[in-house]
Amino acid sequence: MSSDDQKRAAAEAALEFVQPGQILGVGTGSTANYFIDLLGERFAGQIPACVSSSLASTERLRERGFKVVELAEVDYYSIYVDGADEFDVALAMIKGGGGALTSEKIVSSLAGQFVCIVDAGKRVEVLGAFPLPVEIIAMAERGVSGVLRDLGGEPVRREGFVTDHGNPILDVHGFRITDPVILEGEIEAIPGVVTCGLFARRPADVVLMGTNHGVQRFGV
Ligand code: A5P
Repeated sequence: MSSDDQKRAAAEAALEFVQPGQILGVGTGSTANYFIDLLGERFAGQIPACVSSSLASTERLRERGFKVVELAEVDYYSIYVDGADEFDVALAMIKGGGGALTSEKIVSSLAGQFVCIVDAGKRVEVLGAFPLPVEIIAMAERGVSGVLRDLGGEPVRREGFVTDHGNPILDVHGFRITDPVILEGEIEAIPGVVTCGLFARRPADVVLMGTNHGVQRFGV
């Protein structure tokens, strides 16, 4: 089974969490795209609205007939479904490989449950082999990079890329993240950091991981 097949299987498993008639939070990336496509096939006309974590997902949702509303228009949504670049045993994640980390962190933080959908390659013992994305305010690059080096990482600016919010991303190599909750707080406290791609203080509630032998479930 290819990693794409595993992603699709995980996305399909997440459909069990979708409640007709309820607003849904939707993530970004290739696995989230499978989820959006399957949602269009199985739940057309049954979801009153979605909140989206990127312009790309908003467009894909609208193409499939879903209404996408601003976060400010919504009181509550029970689930947020999104992929991850890595996850660990505590269901802490690295996210932001696709650059949507800031909106992903905002939209996921307001959901009742974070349902993470991944292929088997995303499971790790210790986070950090995947370079940690950090969205920054451009004028702060030098200062933020210095602190990230002090913390043990090697930041590399993502060339030719700005986020939906118009900011650059530093991809930080070389971290071995044994305490992601602490590191997330330390990085987000650096002046000029918008969002750190660690999702540890608010980890996933459930991870659905596609494998060659079916979908494995972690968490609630
Ligand atoms: C987008 O910014 C990311 O957080 C994605 O959720 C993450 O990179 C996973 O992407 P794939 O589903 O494409 O592997």
